[in-house]
Parts: sequence; C-alpha cells; structure tokens
Amino acid sequence: MTEQSGQTPTLDNLSTESRVFAPADDFSAAANVGAAAYEQGTADREAFWAEQADRLSWDTRWERVLDWDDAPFAKWFVGGKLNVAANCVDRHVEAGLGDRVAIHWVGEPGDSRAITYADLLREVSKTANALTELGLEAGDRVAIQMPMIPEAIFSMLACARLGLVHSVVFGGFSSAALRSRIDDAQARLLITSDGQYRRGAPAPMKDNTDEATAHTPSIEHVLVVRRTGGEVKWTDGRDLWWHEVVDRQAETHEAQPFDAEHPLFILYTSGTTGNPKGILHTSGGYLTQASYTHHAVFDLKPETDVYWCTADIGWITGHSYIVYGPLSNGVTQVVYEGTPNTPHEGRHWEIIQEHKVSIYYTAPTLIRTFMKWGADIPARYDLSSLRVLGSVGEPINPEAWIWYRENVGANRTPIVDTWWQTETGAIMISPLPGVTHTKPGSAQRALPGISAKVVDDQGVEVGKGGGGYLVLDQPWPSMLRGIWGDNDRYRDTYWSRFADLGFYFAGDGAKYDADGDIWLLGRVDDVMNVSGHRISTTEVESALVSHPTVAEAAVVGASDPTTGQGIVAFVILRGSAKPDDSTVKTLRDHVATEIGPIAKPRQVLIVNELPKTRSGKIMRRLLRDVAENRAIGDTTTLADSAVMDLISTGLKSTT
Ligand code: WT7
Repeated sequence: MTEQSGQTPTLDNLSTESRVFAPADDFSAAANVGAAAYEQGTADREAFWAEQADRLSWDTRWERVLDWDDAPFAKWFVGGKLNVAANCVDRHVEAGLGDRVAIHWVGEPGDSRAITYADLLREVSKTANALTELGLEAGDRVAIQMPMIPEAIFSMLACARLGLVHSVVFGGFSSAALRSRIDDAQARLLITSDGQYRRGAPAPMKDNTDEATAHTPSIEHVLVVRRTGGEVKWTDGRDLWWHEVVDRQAETHEAQPFDAEHPLFILYTSGTTGNPKGILHTSGGYLTQASYTHHAVFDLKPETDVYWCTADIGWITGHSYIVYGPLSNGVTQVVYEGTPNTPHEGRHWEIIQEHKVSIYYTAPTLIRTFMKWGADIPARYDLSSLRVLGSVGEPINPEAWIWYRENVGANRTPIVDTWWQTETGAIMISPLPGVTHTKPGSAQRALPGISAKVVDDQGVEVGKGGGGYLVLDQPWPSMLRGIWGDNDRYRDTYWSRFADLGFYFAGDGAKYDADGDIWLLGRVDDVMNVSGHRISTTEVESALVSHPTVAEAAVVGASDPTTGQGIVAFVILRGSAKPDDSTVKTLRDHVATEIGPIAKPRQVLIVNELPKTRSGKIMRRLLRDVAENRAIGDTTTLADSAVMDLISTGLKSTT
C-alpha cells in the first residue's frame, strides 16, 4: 500500500487499485468521531446505539434498546416516545437557534428563499394544523409528489409531527406508478404542485397526479402548491390550494410524542421482480441512525458548515440526508430545485461558491457527467469552502473518485463513499473522514455499531482477498421494519437466503481486499459468469472508464454458447475522442491488460447514450436485450424513453 496525499497518482482501476489517502492531521484532530467509536460499537452494540439515541430528545425514555425476539421483525428503543419533527425543528428553536438558516433554498429560475429554524417551525406548524383540519389522524397515509421546493419538506415534517405516514413518490414517476403506490398504501391525502421548473422551463405536475387520482378512491383531498402558475384542471371539493388552506392556519402547534416504533414513512423501491416494495421505516431507531451517521460520516459542525446533498426527496437519500439526518443535527443546508446544467454546466459550482458549501454529497453518475463536461468548468469557481465530499448510489469507479478529489476537492478533501440502501434507512458502510485512510472505489468498513460481512454461498465469511455476497449479520436501528402489507415478501426477499444464520441479504456482491476493507461490486444480478469466472460488470466498467478516451461505460453479461456469458460493453467516448477502426480493439485490449484476459469484452459497442432510470441507474436489462439481439423489453422506467431508439439506430448505422 502506498500512502499518498497531494500529488496526482496515476489512474488505475478497481482490481489493481492501491492508492491510499490519509486524513490530514488537523482534520483528524477536530473530527466529530475518532477511531475509538469502532471499539465501543463492537464491545457493546446496544450501549453504543443507546448513547447515539441520547443525541435526540425523548419524551419518554425506552425500557429496552433492542427487542429481536421476533426476528426478522425488530423493535428498537422499546417503550420510548418522541416526536421526530420536534427533534428536527422545535428543539433547535428552544435551544436559541431560531435565527440559524436551516434551508438556503435555490430555485432553478434563480429565485431563492432563506428559511431559518424559527421560520421552519412556523411553516411546519401551519401545515400540521391544515392536515388536522382535513381530518387526518395518526397512522393515516399521505402521498407526496412534489418538486424540490420548501413545501415538500414542510409536508414531510408536518406528517412526522402528526404521526401520519408519508409516502413520497419521485416527481418524475408516471401517473401509473403514483397510482399503484397510492393504492398500495391507501393514502387519504395527496400533496403536489401545479408544476415544476426543469431544464429552464416550467413543466406540469398536477396533470400527472390528476391522471393518477382519477382512479384512487382512497384519496379524499389533493393539496396543491402553486409553484409555476401554470394552468391546472380543478376538481371542486377534492382539490385545495396550499396558499388558501395552509397560509391562514395558526402558527403554533403542540407536538405529541409517538412510540419509537410508530411508522414514519413508506418508500417504494423496485425489486428484481414484481411490484415495487413499500419499504417501511419507523421513528426512534430510524432517526437515531440517520442523525448519528450524518454527524459522523460528514463530520458535520452545525455552527460553521454549509451542507448540500444533491439528491431528490423522492429517494431515500433525500429522506435521510436532506430531511431527517441533517435537520435533526441543526444543519444549515442548500436545497436546489433544478437540473445541474441549467442555465449552464457550472450551476453546482456556482451554488457552492455563493453559499460557501463545505460538505457536498452527490452520486457517481453525476460525477461522471461532470467529467464529460470537462474539468475546466469547476476550475472557474472558488470551491475552497469544501472540506468533505460524499458519494452514494452505486460503486464509484476509481477514475471518477480521483477526478472528484482533484477537480472538486483540490486534492485535499476526504471523500466518503457511502454504501447503504432504501432498506437500511441510513449509511452502513463508509469511511469516517477523520479516521479512515481512504481508497478510491472502496466504501471500506462498516460504521461503528454496524456489522457487515462478505460471505460465500453457504454463508461462510470469505477471507482477505475473497469475494462473495454482502450480508448484515446484526440488526441495526434504522433497518426496515417490513414491506408494507407483505410480511412474507419481507422474509423471502431479505432473510431467506441465509435463513439459518439470520443474515440480512443485501443483494450486492462485495470483496475484501488484502487489508480486509470492503469493495462493493454491484448488484449480484449484475455479476457475470464467464467460463466459470465471476466478473463484476462494475469491474469491467471501471477498467473501460480508466481509458483516457472513455467517458462512460455499461457492461452486461450476454448469454454465450461457449463461455456461459460473454461480456458486452456499451461505451460513450469523451467529446474530444473520435472513434476509428482501432478503437474497439484498443478498448478490448485495455480491459484485458487492466483485469486479465478473462475479462476481455466479447464486443465493445460505441454509443451516444446509455439507458438510465430517473434515479440514474443504468438499465442493464435493456442493454442485455440489445446484446442478445432480442426485442427490447419494458422501457417505462427510463428517464428518457428515446434513448433505446438512439442506441439501436446508432448501432445499425455503424454495423
Ligand atoms: C443499492 C441501493 C443508498 C441510497 C441510494 C440508493 C447500490 C448504493 C453504494 C455505494 C456501491 C452502492 C447498491 C445498493 N449502492 N450506494 N456507495 N457503493 N453500491 O438506494 O435505490 O435503495 O439502492 O445501490 O447496489 O444495494 P437504493
């Protein structure tokens, strides 16, 4: 292992990656969490989490930290009572921090709003009073489909305050997707907006929710925020304007405590088959871990930091690391409504410069997009306020990690690569920025109080250098409590694979390196088997992206008569690179050199676009259809449905 900091190392890929970046001494000295936390978490896991739960305000203290008697159905902080919203808002105002800005909201067209904790308390109280007036009671479900506007956060917190269970549905989801989620949860209220700003123009939103609510008998009212002022259809008696119902409410509201296991929200996530699963999270354990991990992983100093997580509230990252984790810690944060290239490709850097953002948390897919746009763009802005960078959502290839560190972090800021899932509720595996010697592309180690293992088919832990399945072998406070309305599916999906051992099966492949650090290798359904060798699509993609001409790559295993599966790579070249006769051979050879001849792609196809879901995940299933010369399957969850046509036409014209 080579220790480096400061200098530019040579680019490399995941399989041979050996660079290590030590935290700076002054960063470590001032860090919120030091190395001792790992020992505390291992010595007495329950005592450790009880200490973290004490970072919150409880109305009634718990009697028992963990009840795992009815595994896999967990109860944390049994008998404890708290109000989640009061923990995120009221207690900061009571502590005299009412004037601190909670949210620097930045609208896409350039409008903005600074919301202090005192403002937030007023807005959440008014919203809670309005929802009470509409007859909603603790335990009722509320669907929310909204853009990234402050009212979305007020709505979530008002639900939490009243013990209502929110189900946020990403703004880009179709009416059919919204409808099935409303039906599954039997939501009584839908909160939405007339429209939203995307890519420089207002786009309708209520049209979509109208289509959904035409067929959802459980919905009694639709509460509509006016954002764009566009024309909307109106159903009298059902539809209500936010400004007419919420604005006139009393500005105070007394929060009631709820049981630690009171449901907080449902969030739907797609599985490998069937309908989306309604992942259920509850109150005390969820907030404890969301809050602690935000404090520990980002080293948040609420008095001085300005934090920005670029996720949408429609995803778990938005729930845990825009709303509940940060606000419970009294953060000052940026919330941005729009797209990263509106009105120009430097928008994020401009926002960081203007608000002096010190902690920036984003996704590898966006980092690779920034790479494609060029390093000269961030170079035009003052990014010196940044001190911690985060990554989430998929394995980050070392190439992108290094680019992020050099071009955004000035070769100085630690990068935390955070592994977790909708189901885990909060970060599980990640470096700690003041402790960990980070390695590009590795999430490295389970956080204090968390236990993760890499095991083989039989559930036996593999040794250093070995690969297998990622499992969580101990319950954790923010774990999902089930799938809404489907206990059997909950058991089957997560707990049946290693039933005798009681492990949670994450669905991800992983390996230990020679130091015992964990490297995530992508979903196990994306792992290929070529001539009996297990090769991760991520590993091949990483190798491809480490070639200077490649901007982005997606790899699938296509069935092959001789080798079981053959590797097919779809590659987007960098803007400046022009393909010629030797490009394909060069790239195939490059992979063979980087990983080994067994990983050499059978085919490399040069394309202009890759099919992605709205959350940025590459839809390999569709690429597999192309690679296997099949009719292309269901494309309804694609962010841009024209992409598959583009790829097919592009390929025809080049072959
Ligand atoms: C899946 C969960 C967690 C919030 C966003 C995604 C992949 C997530 C990482 C990471 C490697 C990662 C896994 C996981 N994933 N973060 N840092 N390194 N893989 O939530 O939609 O529930 O997806 O995302 O495959 O299982 P999600």
